[in-house]
Amino acid sequence: MKLIAPSILSADGSKLGEEILAVEKAGADWIHIDVMDGNFVPNITMGPSIISSLRKVTKLPFDVHLMIEDPDRYIESFFKAGADVITVHVEASSHLHRTVDLIKSFGVRAGVSLNPATPLEQIEEIIHHIDLLLIMTVNPGFGGQKFIGTSLAKIARAKKMLESMPRKPLLEVDGGVNIKNIGDIAQVGADVIVAGAAVFGTEDYQKAIASLKMAANSQQA
Ligand code: DX5
Ligand code: ZN
Repeated sequence: MKLIAPSILSADGSKLGEEILAVEKAGADWIHIDVMDGNFVPNITMGPSIISSLRKVTKLPFDVHLMIEDPDRYIESFFKAGADVITVHVEASSHLHRTVDLIKSFGVRAGVSLNPATPLEQIEEIIHHIDLLLIMTVNPGFGGQKFIGTSLAKIARAKKMLESMPRKPLLEVDGGVNIKNIGDIAQVGADVIVAGAAVFGTEDYQKAIASLKMAANSQQA
């Protein structure tokens, strides 16, 4: 079963708690939370205090995607705020192995993410240590962007790399997912699929998530 992780970046910020409850009721598996620092990416979103408040409304796993420079400074705060998965960017961490160890020291899942232009080779030495690999299929910073078509081949290659590992890390895909491309994304090997606009940009979350799941799971890799 493929997991669907709605990104609250595209939710109504004036009622984030209600939005999370609504997608939980609609069948979301994880809640994807995009943290941006206005430095690593050209946008600013939310930090640990908002996540800590949101932690009270649901027990669904919080999948925290840190698009911030030098993430080590904030790992403990995001853990304390209630993150279940903490993903950092290879491009933003100068001592990635140390960062991954730090995340794991709190007993949460450690993820690493690659921007579209970053080759898979960059994770060769860290792949043995991670719990999740997040492939960005848009340039991070904003919701509602167009999926970069050439990413499908990269996802397929990433799946091959992960499958050769003794403890297979999860493969997550983030950016520009929609009802038309989710089947292909699932088929080439994504385990967790983020959807922002494709869920929160619709009127009926139940229908949106059900259709995404159906399209993803009919193409099981
Ligand atoms: C982009 C974020 C994504 C984004 C996904 O920087 O990391 O999680 O919110 O939104 P959609 O699905 O609308 O591309
Ligand atoms: Zn994200």
